[in-house]
Amino acid sequence: MISISVTRRDDGQSSISVEPGGTLMEALRDNGIDDILAICGGCCACATCHVYIEDGRDELKAPASEDENDLLDTSEYRQEQSRLSCQITLTPEDDGLKVRVAPED
Ligand code: FES
Repeated sequence: MISISVTRRDDGQSSISVEPGGTLMEALRDNGIDDILAICGGCCACATCHVYIEDGRDELKAPASEDENDLLDTSEYRQEQSRLSCQITLTPEDDGLKVRVAPED
């Protein structure tokens, strides 16, 4: 199991434990982080799974694909460490990951 710290939109803190192998979006959605709507189900088409990577692997701090980058560009709240959580596959190295849910566009 890996542990992930989450700051919700209301600034509340949650800590979730998940098995690696799934996506960060699934981990958040399936562990009661209701701020993550994930309307498109993880197809990189809605940006309702937008998070900021506050602490984690360097690879997580930039969009993984042109599609993700383009979609993040549509958000008013894009920041340097913005990611679409459905595009992040969790690995054992992600234990201790810290994320913040981005404001809703
Ligand atoms: S769930 Fe729609 S882009 Fe991530």
